[in-house]
Amino acid sequence: MSKRAAAALAAGAMVLTLTACGSGGGGGGGSADKGSGHKLVLGFSQVGAESGWRTANTKSVQEAAKKAGIELKFSDAQQKQENQIKAIRSFIQQKVDVIAFSPVVESGWDTVLKEAKDAHIPVVLTDRAVDSKDESLYASFLGSDFVAEGKSAGDWLVKEYASASDDVNIVQLEGTTGSAPANDRKAGFADAVKAQPKFKVVASQTGDFTRAKGKEVMQAFLKAQSKIDVLYAHNDDMALGAIQAIEEAGKKPGKDIKIVSVDGVKDAFTAMSQGKINYDVECNPLLGDQLMDLVKKVKAGEQVPRRIKTEEGTFTPEQATAALPNRQY
Ligand code: AHR
Repeated sequence: MSKRAAAALAAGAMVLTLTACGSGGGGGGGSADKGSGHKLVLGFSQVGAESGWRTANTKSVQEAAKKAGIELKFSDAQQKQENQIKAIRSFIQQKVDVIAFSPVVESGWDTVLKEAKDAHIPVVLTDRAVDSKDESLYASFLGSDFVAEGKSAGDWLVKEYASASDDVNIVQLEGTTGSAPANDRKAGFADAVKAQPKFKVVASQTGDFTRAKGKEVMQAFLKAQSKIDVLYAHNDDMALGAIQAIEEAGKKPGKDIKIVSVDGVKDAFTAMSQGKINYDVECNPLLGDQLMDLVKKVKAGEQVPRRIKTEEGTFTPEQATAALPNRQY
C-alpha cells in the first residue's frame, strides 16, 4: 500500500458518519436521494469545537442534513489544517457526492481542491473562505462578511469615543492566525478607526478563538499595559475569557475596560445584560438549511451564486438583553 493510500485510510477512520434518516419539512427539506434510492452523500469537514459559535454551527449542519434527507459524513479537524486535508482526501476516496468545509486557515488548499475537482466532486465553502486564485476549485462560498463585521466594531468605537480628545488605548484578541475571520475582522476594524490617530492598538495577539486562550492573553495584556481603555475581541469566547482575567485583576469589564466583540452567542448576551460587554456584532452560525439547499443544487448541476452572504445585525446591551430569552445559540 502506498504511503498516500495508507494516510487516506487512516483519515477515513477519523470520519464519523452521521447517517441522517429524516426527510422533508422546511428549509433544506425534502429527500435528497439520487433517483435510485441512494441518498445524497455530503462530506463535511468542520474546523473544530473551539467556540460556542462553532458548536451552534455544527448542530445546525447536522440537523439540517437530517431534515433534508442528506447522509452526512462529519469530520472534526480539531483546528488543524492537516486534519482537514486528510478528511477531504478521505471523502474523495469514499466518492461522496459533494464536499463542504469551513477552512481553518485561508491558504494552502489548492492541491487538495484540485484533487476533488479531478475526481469530479464539487466543493462548497461554508463560513470561511480560501485565498485560492483559481475560482473553478469550488462551486460557492456561503458565509458572513468578516470585513464588514470588523468595520461595524470599529464604527461603534468611533461613535463611542466621538468626544474623546485623549488617546484611546485598544488591545486586540485576534482569532486563529491565518484564518479568514481573524484576517478580515482585523482589517475591517483597522479601516474604521484609521482616520483618527487617537485610536491606538497598543497590543494585538491571537487567542485562537477560545475562552482559555482569551483569558491567558488578556492576563498578559493586563500585566504589560499600564492603560487599557478598550478590548476588541474577534469572537465572544475570547471576550468571555478576557472578562474573567479583567475581573481577577480587580477591574470592571464594560466600565474600566470597554469591550466590543463579534458573534452574538447567548453567553455573551448574558454578559451584556450584566454590563460586561458594550457592543456585539452578530455572526450567524445557523447556516445548515442554506448549506443543504446549496449542496442539492450543486449536485443537480444547477447554477448557484459564487458568493452567498449571511444576514446579520449588531447589538447594544439593551438589545441583547431583550433578545436573550429567544436566542437560539
Ligand atoms: O469562522 C467563524 C468564527 O469561528 C466565529 O466568530 C468564531 O467564534 C469561530 O470559532
